[in-house]
Amino acid sequence: MKLQTIRWEAGKKTLVLIDQTRLPGKLVYMRCKTVEQVWQAIRALKVRGAPAIGAAAAFGMVLGIGQRKYAAYSCFKKKVDGLVRYLASARPTAVNLFWALERMKQVVLEHRTHPVPEIGERLLQEALAIMEEDRKSCRKMADIGQVFVKDNDSILTYCNAGILATVDYGTALGVIYRAKELKKKIKVYSCETRPLLQGARLTCWELRRNKIDVTLLCDNMAGYLMKQKKVDKIFIGADRISANGDVANKIGSYALAILAKYHRIPFYVVAPVSTFDTALASGADIPIEERDAREVGSLWYKRPMAPAGINVYNPAFDIVPGRLITAIVTDKGILTPAYLKKVRRLFSR
Ligand code: MRU
Repeated sequence: MKLQTIRWEAGKKTLVLIDQTRLPGKLVYMRCKTVEQVWQAIRALKVRGAPAIGAAAAFGMVLGIGQRKYAAYSCFKKKVDGLVRYLASARPTAVNLFWALERMKQVVLEHRTHPVPEIGERLLQEALAIMEEDRKSCRKMADIGQVFVKDNDSILTYCNAGILATVDYGTALGVIYRAKELKKKIKVYSCETRPLLQGARLTCWELRRNKIDVTLLCDNMAGYLMKQKKVDKIFIGADRISANGDVANKIGSYALAILAKYHRIPFYVVAPVSTFDTALASGADIPIEERDAREVGSLWYKRPMAPAGINVYNPAFDIVPGRLITAIVTDKGILTPAYLKKVRRLFSR
Protein backbone atom coordinates (compact mmCIF):
# COMPACT_ATOMS: atom_id res chain seq x y z
CA MET A 1 0.00 0.00 0.00
CA LYS A 2 1.16 3.53 -0.61
CA LEU A 3 1.64 4.55 3.02
CA GLN A 4 4.99 3.71 4.53
CA THR A 5 4.69 3.45 8.29
CA ILE A 6 8.37 2.52 8.60
CA ARG A 7 11.17 2.95 6.11
CA TRP A 8 14.94 2.58 6.30
CA GLU A 9 17.00 5.05 4.29
CA ALA A 10 20.18 3.10 3.77
CA GLY A 11 22.28 5.94 2.34
CA LYS A 12 21.45 8.29 5.21
CA LYS A 13 21.32 5.58 7.90
CA THR A 14 17.99 6.99 8.99
CA LEU A 15 14.74 5.40 10.16
CA VAL A 16 11.79 7.26 8.69
CA LEU A 17 8.49 6.91 10.54
CA ILE A 18 5.04 8.37 10.13
CA ASP A 19 4.52 10.54 13.22
CA GLN A 20 1.15 9.08 14.19
CA THR A 21 0.53 11.70 16.86
CA ARG A 22 0.07 14.24 14.03
CA LEU A 23 -2.72 12.26 12.35
CA PRO A 24 -5.33 12.77 11.09
CA GLY A 25 -4.41 16.47 10.75
CA LYS A 26 -1.12 16.05 8.94
CA LEU A 27 0.85 13.24 7.35
CA VAL A 28 4.29 14.01 8.70
CA TYR A 29 7.35 11.77 8.35
CA MET A 30 9.87 11.98 11.17
CA ARG A 31 13.50 10.97 10.79
CA CYS A 32 15.29 9.07 13.55
CA LYS A 33 19.07 9.10 13.50
CA THR A 34 19.64 8.02 17.10
CA VAL A 35 18.38 5.22 19.33
CA GLU A 36 17.08 7.85 21.76
CA GLN A 37 14.82 9.24 19.03
CA VAL A 38 13.48 5.75 18.33
CA TRP A 39 12.87 5.11 22.06
CA GLN A 40 11.03 8.43 22.35
CA ALA A 41 8.96 7.69 19.21
CA ILE A 42 7.86 4.34 20.68
CA ARG A 43 7.17 5.75 24.14
CA ALA A 44 5.13 8.69 22.79
CA LEU A 45 3.18 6.48 20.34
CA LYS A 46 4.59 8.28 17.31
CA VAL A 47 5.14 4.73 16.11
CA ARG A 48 2.71 2.26 17.66
CA GLY A 49 0.93 -1.03 17.14
CA ALA A 50 2.70 -4.23 18.14
CA PRO A 51 4.37 -5.23 14.84
CA ALA A 52 5.42 -1.65 14.00
CA ILE A 53 6.98 -1.21 17.45
CA GLY A 54 9.00 -4.41 16.96
CA ALA A 55 10.37 -3.34 13.59
CA ALA A 56 11.17 0.18 14.84
CA ALA A 57 13.06 -1.24 17.85
CA ALA A 58 15.18 -3.45 15.57
CA PHE A 59 16.33 -0.35 13.68
CA GLY A 60 16.79 1.41 17.01
CA MET A 61 19.45 -1.22 17.75
CA VAL A 62 21.16 -0.54 14.43
CA LEU A 63 21.20 3.20 15.12
CA GLY A 64 22.42 2.67 18.69
CA ILE A 65 25.41 0.65 17.52
CA GLY A 66 26.21 3.30 14.93
CA GLN A 67 29.53 3.59 13.14
CA ARG A 68 31.76 3.54 16.21
CA LYS A 69 34.75 1.20 16.40
CA TYR A 70 34.61 -1.33 19.22
CA ALA A 71 37.87 -2.52 20.73
CA ALA A 72 36.66 -6.10 21.14
CA TYR A 73 33.60 -8.32 20.87
CA SER A 74 33.08 -8.02 24.64
CA CYS A 75 32.74 -4.20 24.41
CA PHE A 76 30.35 -4.59 21.49
CA LYS A 77 28.28 -7.19 23.36
CA LYS A 78 28.10 -4.93 26.41
CA LYS A 79 26.79 -2.13 24.20
CA VAL A 80 24.24 -4.47 22.60
CA ASP A 81 22.95 -5.65 25.99
CA GLY A 82 22.57 -2.04 27.13
CA LEU A 83 20.65 -1.15 23.97
CA VAL A 84 18.34 -4.14 24.38
CA ARG A 85 17.56 -3.13 27.98
CA TYR A 86 17.04 0.50 26.97
CA LEU A 87 14.70 -0.17 24.04
CA ALA A 88 12.79 -2.80 26.02
CA SER A 89 11.95 -0.12 28.58
CA ALA A 90 10.03 1.98 26.03
CA ARG A 91 6.71 0.13 26.46
CA PRO A 92 5.82 -3.04 28.41
CA THR A 93 2.86 -4.80 26.79
CA ALA A 94 3.38 -5.48 23.07
CA VAL A 95 5.58 -8.56 22.98
CA ASN A 96 6.75 -7.87 19.43
CA LEU A 97 9.12 -5.30 20.95
CA PHE A 98 10.91 -7.95 23.05
CA TRP A 99 10.63 -10.54 20.28
CA ALA A 100 12.44 -8.26 17.81
CA LEU A 101 15.12 -7.31 20.35
CA GLU A 102 15.67 -10.98 21.15
CA ARG A 103 16.16 -11.73 17.45
CA MET A 104 18.74 -8.97 17.22
CA LYS A 105 20.52 -10.28 20.32
CA GLN A 106 20.64 -13.80 18.87
CA VAL A 107 22.35 -12.48 15.72
CA VAL A 108 25.09 -11.01 17.90
CA LEU A 109 25.53 -14.25 19.84
CA GLU A 110 25.53 -16.45 16.76
CA HIS A 111 28.24 -14.34 15.10
CA ARG A 112 30.46 -13.87 18.14
CA THR A 113 33.52 -15.16 16.26
CA HIS A 114 33.05 -12.73 13.37
CA PRO A 115 34.61 -9.25 13.10
CA VAL A 116 32.45 -6.66 14.87
CA PRO A 117 31.75 -4.53 11.74
CA GLU A 118 30.41 -7.67 10.08
CA ILE A 119 28.08 -8.31 13.05
CA GLY A 120 26.85 -4.73 12.68
CA GLU A 121 26.03 -5.43 9.05
CA ARG A 122 24.23 -8.67 10.04
CA LEU A 123 22.14 -6.68 12.50
CA LEU A 124 21.02 -4.33 9.77
CA GLN A 125 20.12 -7.32 7.59
CA GLU A 126 18.10 -8.77 10.50
CA ALA A 127 16.20 -5.52 11.01
CA LEU A 128 15.41 -5.42 7.28
CA ALA A 129 14.29 -9.07 7.48
CA ILE A 130 11.97 -8.33 10.42
CA MET A 131 10.41 -5.55 8.36
CA GLU A 132 10.03 -7.71 5.25
CA GLU A 133 8.62 -10.67 7.20
CA ASP A 134 5.97 -8.44 8.77
CA ARG A 135 4.95 -7.19 5.34
CA LYS A 136 4.54 -10.78 4.14
CA SER A 137 2.82 -12.07 7.27
CA CYS A 138 0.18 -9.34 7.10
CA ARG A 139 -0.66 -10.36 3.51
CA LYS A 140 -0.84 -13.97 4.59
CA MET A 141 -3.21 -13.26 7.49
CA ALA A 142 -5.33 -11.14 5.19
CA ASP A 143 -5.73 -14.10 2.83
CA ILE A 144 -6.29 -16.65 5.57
CA GLY A 145 -8.86 -14.43 7.28
CA GLN A 146 -11.09 -14.32 4.18
CA VAL A 147 -12.84 -17.49 5.30
CA PHE A 148 -14.54 -15.36 7.98
CA VAL A 149 -15.58 -12.45 5.73
CA LYS A 150 -18.64 -12.44 3.50
CA ASP A 151 -19.90 -9.98 0.93
CA ASN A 152 -21.97 -7.22 2.62
CA ASP A 153 -20.56 -7.83 6.10
CA SER A 154 -20.64 -5.07 8.71
CA ILE A 155 -17.45 -5.30 10.73
CA LEU A 156 -16.69 -3.53 13.97
CA THR A 157 -13.05 -2.83 14.81
CA TYR A 158 -11.19 -1.29 17.70
CA CYS A 159 -8.04 0.79 18.12
CA ASN A 160 -5.87 0.64 15.01
CA ALA A 161 -4.69 -2.70 13.67
CA GLY A 162 -4.00 -1.41 10.19
CA ILE A 163 -1.21 -0.21 7.95
CA LEU A 164 -0.14 2.24 10.65
CA ALA A 165 0.22 -0.49 13.28
CA THR A 166 2.40 -2.70 11.07
CA VAL A 167 5.04 -2.32 8.40
CA ASP A 168 2.35 -2.57 5.73
CA TYR A 169 -1.29 -3.61 5.23
CA GLY A 170 -2.25 -4.35 8.83
CA THR A 171 -3.57 -7.32 10.77
CA ALA A 172 -7.32 -6.92 11.44
CA LEU A 173 -7.64 -4.16 8.84
CA GLY A 174 -5.53 -6.18 6.40
CA VAL A 175 -8.37 -8.72 6.30
CA ILE A 176 -10.72 -5.88 5.36
CA TYR A 177 -8.37 -4.47 2.70
CA ARG A 178 -8.06 -7.92 1.15
CA ALA A 179 -11.84 -8.41 1.22
CA LYS A 180 -12.19 -5.18 -0.72
CA GLU A 181 -9.59 -6.32 -3.27
CA LEU A 182 -11.69 -9.47 -3.70
CA LYS A 183 -14.69 -7.23 -4.45
CA LYS A 184 -16.53 -8.00 -1.22
CA LYS A 185 -18.61 -5.06 -0.07
CA ILE A 186 -17.71 -4.31 3.55
CA LYS A 187 -19.01 -1.72 5.96
CA VAL A 188 -16.73 -0.90 8.89
CA TYR A 189 -17.61 0.60 12.26
CA SER A 190 -14.59 2.04 14.06
CA CYS A 191 -14.78 2.70 17.80
CA GLU A 192 -12.99 5.93 18.62
CA THR A 193 -10.83 4.15 21.29
CA ARG A 194 -10.47 6.46 24.27
CA PRO A 195 -8.26 7.94 25.53
CA LEU A 196 -5.79 8.28 22.65
CA LEU A 197 -8.38 7.86 19.90
CA GLN A 198 -6.43 5.48 17.65
CA GLY A 199 -9.76 4.38 16.15
CA ALA A 200 -10.95 7.88 15.35
CA ARG A 201 -7.64 9.38 14.35
CA LEU A 202 -5.88 6.48 12.66
CA THR A 203 -8.31 3.71 11.64
CA CYS A 204 -10.83 6.16 10.16
CA TRP A 205 -8.04 8.05 8.43
CA GLU A 206 -6.39 5.05 6.77
CA LEU A 207 -9.65 3.28 5.89
CA ARG A 208 -11.10 6.36 4.25
CA ARG A 209 -7.83 6.96 2.40
CA ASN A 210 -8.20 3.43 1.02
CA LYS A 211 -11.83 3.95 0.09
CA ILE A 212 -13.35 1.65 2.69
CA ASP A 213 -16.83 2.58 3.91
CA VAL A 214 -16.15 3.50 7.56
CA THR A 215 -18.37 5.00 10.27
CA LEU A 216 -17.00 6.33 13.54
CA LEU A 217 -18.70 5.73 16.88
CA CYS A 218 -17.90 6.47 20.52
CA ASP A 219 -16.76 3.39 22.43
CA ASN A 220 -19.87 3.38 24.60
CA MET A 221 -22.12 3.12 21.53
CA ALA A 222 -20.90 -0.35 20.53
CA GLY A 223 -23.45 -2.26 22.63
CA TYR A 224 -26.36 -0.31 21.21
CA LEU A 225 -25.09 -0.96 17.69
CA MET A 226 -24.90 -4.71 18.38
CA LYS A 227 -28.39 -4.71 19.87
CA GLN A 228 -29.63 -3.08 16.66
CA LYS A 229 -28.04 -6.00 14.71
CA LYS A 230 -25.77 -3.63 12.82
CA VAL A 231 -22.62 -5.65 13.54
CA ASP A 232 -22.02 -9.02 11.84
CA LYS A 233 -18.56 -9.62 13.29
CA ILE A 234 -15.72 -8.02 15.18
CA PHE A 235 -12.06 -7.99 14.11
CA ILE A 236 -9.28 -6.70 16.36
CA GLY A 237 -5.49 -7.00 16.57
CA ALA A 238 -3.38 -8.06 19.56
CA ASP A 239 -0.40 -6.88 21.55
CA ARG A 240 0.39 -10.16 23.25
CA ILE A 241 -1.23 -13.61 23.27
CA SER A 242 -0.49 -16.06 26.08
CA ALA A 243 -0.20 -19.83 25.67
CA ASN A 244 -3.88 -20.38 26.52
CA GLY A 245 -5.13 -17.92 23.87
CA ASP A 246 -5.83 -14.94 26.15
CA VAL A 247 -5.28 -11.73 24.20
CA ALA A 248 -3.95 -8.40 25.44
CA ASN A 249 -5.20 -5.58 23.27
CA LYS A 250 -6.18 -1.94 23.63
CA ILE A 251 -8.20 -1.13 26.75
CA GLY A 252 -11.86 -1.68 25.93
CA SER A 253 -11.32 -4.88 23.93
CA TYR A 254 -12.54 -6.98 26.88
CA ALA A 255 -15.83 -5.08 27.12
CA LEU A 256 -16.37 -5.53 23.38
CA ALA A 257 -15.76 -9.29 23.66
CA ILE A 258 -18.34 -9.60 26.47
CA LEU A 259 -20.86 -7.62 24.43
CA ALA A 260 -20.14 -9.80 21.41
CA LYS A 261 -20.70 -12.98 23.42
CA TYR A 262 -24.04 -11.70 24.75
CA HIS A 263 -25.20 -10.74 21.27
CA ARG A 264 -23.77 -13.92 19.68
CA ILE A 265 -21.48 -11.98 17.36
CA PRO A 266 -18.26 -13.72 16.23
CA PHE A 267 -15.15 -12.12 17.72
CA TYR A 268 -11.93 -12.56 15.73
CA VAL A 269 -8.35 -11.65 16.61
CA VAL A 270 -5.77 -11.26 13.84
CA ALA A 271 -2.11 -11.42 14.87
CA PRO A 272 1.20 -12.86 13.61
CA VAL A 273 2.99 -15.61 15.54
CA SER A 274 5.46 -12.94 16.72
CA THR A 275 2.65 -11.64 18.98
CA PHE A 276 2.42 -14.92 20.92
CA ASP A 277 4.24 -15.21 24.22
CA THR A 278 4.07 -18.91 24.93
CA ALA A 279 6.19 -18.47 28.06
CA LEU A 280 3.13 -16.97 29.73
CA ALA A 281 0.46 -19.42 30.85
CA SER A 282 -2.41 -16.93 30.78
CA GLY A 283 -3.35 -13.32 30.22
CA ALA A 284 -3.03 -12.68 33.95
CA ASP A 285 0.76 -12.76 33.47
CA ILE A 286 0.81 -10.09 30.74
CA PRO A 287 2.15 -6.75 32.01
CA ILE A 288 -0.34 -3.96 31.41
CA GLU A 289 1.02 -0.53 30.65
CA GLU A 290 -0.31 2.38 32.70
CA ARG A 291 0.02 5.72 31.02
CA ASP A 292 0.02 9.38 32.00
CA ALA A 293 -3.17 10.73 33.61
CA ARG A 294 -3.11 13.71 31.25
CA GLU A 295 -4.01 11.42 28.35
CA VAL A 296 -7.43 10.94 29.96
CA GLY A 297 -8.14 14.38 31.36
CA SER A 298 -6.77 16.90 28.97
CA LEU A 299 -4.41 15.83 26.20
CA TRP A 300 -6.72 15.93 23.21
CA TYR A 301 -8.87 18.86 24.31
CA LYS A 302 -8.49 22.62 24.07
CA ARG A 303 -9.69 22.86 27.68
CA PRO A 304 -9.30 20.18 30.40
CA MET A 305 -12.20 17.72 30.46
CA ALA A 306 -11.80 16.86 34.16
CA PRO A 307 -11.15 18.86 37.33
CA ALA A 308 -7.48 19.69 37.80
CA GLY A 309 -5.70 17.11 39.95
CA ILE A 310 -8.48 14.50 39.78
CA ASN A 311 -7.39 10.90 40.37
CA VAL A 312 -7.08 9.08 37.06
CA TYR A 313 -6.66 5.38 36.27
CA ASN A 314 -5.23 4.91 32.78
CA PRO A 315 -4.41 1.28 31.88
CA ALA A 316 -3.62 1.15 28.16
CA PHE A 317 -4.60 -2.51 27.56
CA ASP A 318 -6.87 -5.22 28.86
CA ILE A 319 -7.14 -8.98 28.43
CA VAL A 320 -9.72 -10.79 26.34
CA PRO A 321 -10.01 -14.36 27.69
CA GLY A 322 -9.54 -16.96 25.01
CA ARG A 323 -12.99 -18.42 25.68
CA LEU A 324 -14.54 -15.20 24.32
CA ILE A 325 -12.60 -15.40 21.06
CA THR A 326 -14.20 -17.23 18.15
CA ALA A 327 -10.88 -17.67 16.31
CA ILE A 328 -7.36 -16.27 16.13
CA VAL A 329 -6.12 -15.73 12.58
CA THR A 330 -2.33 -16.04 12.43
CA ASP A 331 0.16 -16.06 9.58
CA LYS A 332 0.53 -19.80 10.16
CA GLY A 333 -3.16 -20.64 10.10
CA ILE A 334 -6.32 -20.34 12.14
CA LEU A 335 -6.59 -21.27 15.81
CA THR A 336 -9.93 -22.02 17.43
CA PRO A 337 -10.84 -22.84 21.08
CA ALA A 338 -9.54 -24.64 23.12
CA TYR A 339 -6.36 -22.75 22.42
CA LEU A 340 -3.78 -24.27 24.75
CA LYS A 341 -3.22 -27.48 22.79
CA LYS A 342 -3.38 -25.72 19.43
CA VAL A 343 -0.96 -22.98 20.42
CA ARG A 344 1.46 -25.63 21.71
CA ARG A 345 1.16 -27.57 18.45
CA LEU A 346 1.73 -24.42 16.36
CA PHE A 347 4.93 -23.57 18.24
CA SER A 348 6.30 -27.09 18.33
CA ARG A 349 6.39 -27.25 14.52
O1 MRU B 1 -1.17 1.73 22.32
P1 MRU B 1 -1.12 1.27 20.89
O2 MRU B 1 -1.74 2.24 19.95
O3 MRU B 1 0.25 0.83 20.47
O4 MRU B 1 -2.04 -0.03 20.90
C1 MRU B 1 -2.15 -0.78 19.71
C2 MRU B 1 -3.16 -1.85 19.78
O5 MRU B 1 -3.74 -2.12 20.80
C3 MRU B 1 -3.38 -2.63 18.53
O6 MRU B 1 -4.68 -3.10 18.48
C4 MRU B 1 -2.43 -3.83 18.52
O7 MRU B 1 -1.11 -3.42 18.66
C5 MRU B 1 -2.57 -4.63 17.29
S1 MRU B 1 -1.73 -3.87 15.98
C6 MRU B 1 -1.64 -4.76 14.60
